Amino acid sequence: MENVQAIKQRFSIIGNDVKLNRAIEKAIQVAPTDISVLVTGESGVGKEALPKIIHGLSHRKHGKYIAVNCGAIPEGTIDSELFGHEKGAFTGATQTRSGYFEEADGGTIFLDEVGELPLTTQVRLLRVLENGEFLKVGSSKVQKTDVRIVAATNINMFEAIEKEKFREDLYYRLSTVEIFLPPLRNRKEDIHLLFRKFASDFAQKYKMPTIRLKDDAVELLKKYRWSGNVRQLRNVAEQISVLEQNRTITIDTLRGYLPDMGSNLPAVIKSKSSESDFSSEREILYKFLFDMKGDLNDLKKLTMELMKNGSDRQKVQQENKTLINKIYGDESEVDYEQAEDEDTPVEILEIEQQKDLSPMTTIPAAIEDKYHFAEDIQEEETLSLHDKELELIKKALERNKGKRKAAAGELGISERTLYRKIKQYDL
Ligand SMILES: Nc1ncnc2c1ncn2[C@@H]1O[C@H](COP(=O)(O)OP(=O)(O)OP(=O)(O)O)[C@@H](O)[C@H]1O
Ligand SMILES: [Mg+2]
Repeated sequence: MENVQAIKQRFSIIGNDVKLNRAIEKAIQVAPTDISVLVTGESGVGKEALPKIIHGLSHRKHGKYIAVNCGAIPEGTIDSELFGHEKGAFTGATQTRSGYFEEADGGTIFLDEVGELPLTTQVRLLRVLENGEFLKVGSSKVQKTDVRIVAATNINMFEAIEKEKFREDLYYRLSTVEIFLPPLRNRKEDIHLLFRKFASDFAQKYKMPTIRLKDDAVELLKKYRWSGNVRQLRNVAEQISVLEQNRTITIDTLRGYLPDMGSNLPAVIKSKSSESDFSSEREILYKFLFDMKGDLNDLKKLTMELMKNGSDRQKVQQENKTLINKIYGDESEVDYEQAEDEDTPVEILEIEQQKDLSPMTTIPAAIEDKYHFAEDIQEEETLSLHDKELELIKKALERNKGKRKAAAGELGISERTLYRKIKQYDL
């Protein structure tokens, strides 16, 4: 059996995390068999390397390796793409055409984003997996093929089964062996290693000196959530490599490239599957406005809390931990003392106190009115912003073929926030 380190080198995989090594070991072990493998893990964790390893180390290595992105093929043509069609099977089928399953006879097919397969195609796939048989679209002649299948998904397959979007029998057939690739945030020691490798690659590509992170920036890099995983890390490394004049990167500079990290600029996360990349200034500007509006609403909530319970600082901090973290960043970085000294909520409180609108334990009517007044104006102003937000979300979902995780990554928001917004807008 080939050594894990050698395989990593051969397939350009960076990292020494035990969970990553275990996943590669599993791929090496299963490679010589014909067992179907399902590779799972969040978007951008590096799933695409594993089917290549499995094919490359199998007895099929001289046969074809065909990678099919099931999410990228329109529902109307996917059966024909995979299984071929007979001449005249549908309008435009002027020739008989063989599909990937015929082409890959003796080789391996990688079905990427397998969770996106339409149910009718799932039935055909199940049949091939069970006995190697398939029918071309528009044909009744049973054909045979000898193909090994490796599939990948970043969606929760049990949820898809529950929602009857994926057949349970097919799931078990595909996942005889399942290989899980953990998210980057659970491979902390690999984060800097990957960043250095990407930084060095981009320095070469753009013919500039390699960027280097200061120690506290390295700590931030390790602490960050990386919801877009290695793809996002690579993207950040590229942006910094291209844009920063000073090649020694401080924590503040780095923060500016990490969404939800108190940056003043919206970071642009490129999604592999999307052609467009938020490059239009208008979209970036809208995104910036939504981020700002979100921050403003959070600050408003916190201000209200302070107005109600300002005298009991501990209580306010305790009860609004999540909100405070959201506004000021990671919990461990929050300096409550400093935050209170410097930021507006307390200033507003003091101004109102000077006007003698107390007592502060209850919200004075004047403040309450002012607050609601402000809220009304805000609502009016943001009506069209909501439309824009809706448009932005729709576009991101379209670009990512409805995949929430990828769309959320592109929008720089959490999957849960996106889910909430989808519900809110009834999308
Ligand atoms: N360990 C790694 N070493 C080097 N590059 C990596 C590693 N993991 C991922 N990458 C790079 O990160 C990018 C994203 O990886 P990949 O396309 O395999 O993600 P994925 O898991 O298939 O995501 P998705 O579910 O969105 O398709 C690629 O450019 C890949 O080369
Ligand atoms: Mg992929």
